[in-house]
Amino acid sequence: MDIRITVDGRALKADIPPNQTLSDFLRAHGCWSVKHGCETGECGNCTVIVDGRAVYSCLMLAVQADGKSVETFESVQKRSEFAPIQEILMDFGDMDCGYCIPGMMMAMKALIDRIPEPTEEEVLDQLAGTVCHCVRSVKPASALLEAVQKMRGNW
Ligand code: FES
Ligand code: FES
Repeated sequence: MDIRITVDGRALKADIPPNQTLSDFLRAHGCWSVKHGCETGECGNCTVIVDGRAVYSCLMLAVQADGKSVETFESVQKRSEFAPIQEILMDFGDMDCGYCIPGMMMAMKALIDRIPEPTEEEVLDQLAGTVCHCVRSVKPASALLEAVQKMRGNW
């Protein structure tokens, strides 16, 4: 099937099998930040933003993203205003492997784009479906919370 998707500002056209997931499509086009995890919509490691909404790309077919705009962590890393979040996550002592960071960042970006100054409850709510396999999401969530609080003055 022929599809056209805009990924991080790049217009992509591809002939793909109808059952290809969006996560596989994105990885096949160089978006290595999109991680394979549970593949069943439970960990959030594959989270990307499609037309402004955070989605689990393992549960979405690439054909469903035809004509839409997709953002991955590849584009977020270039946005300087997200640097404090990245730094805090990277510095977070117990973060271990960092595998969950791209998904968490995309969930956070979707929230911040919608609500520039989210409350603690909104941050934790947004991250509820994003699991850190190393520390079970509690510590990364508090790190993100700290980053959000630090960044509030800059938004
Ligand atoms: S890999 Fe998609 S939700 Fe876990
Ligand atoms: S730090 Fe390893 S999965 Fe989160």
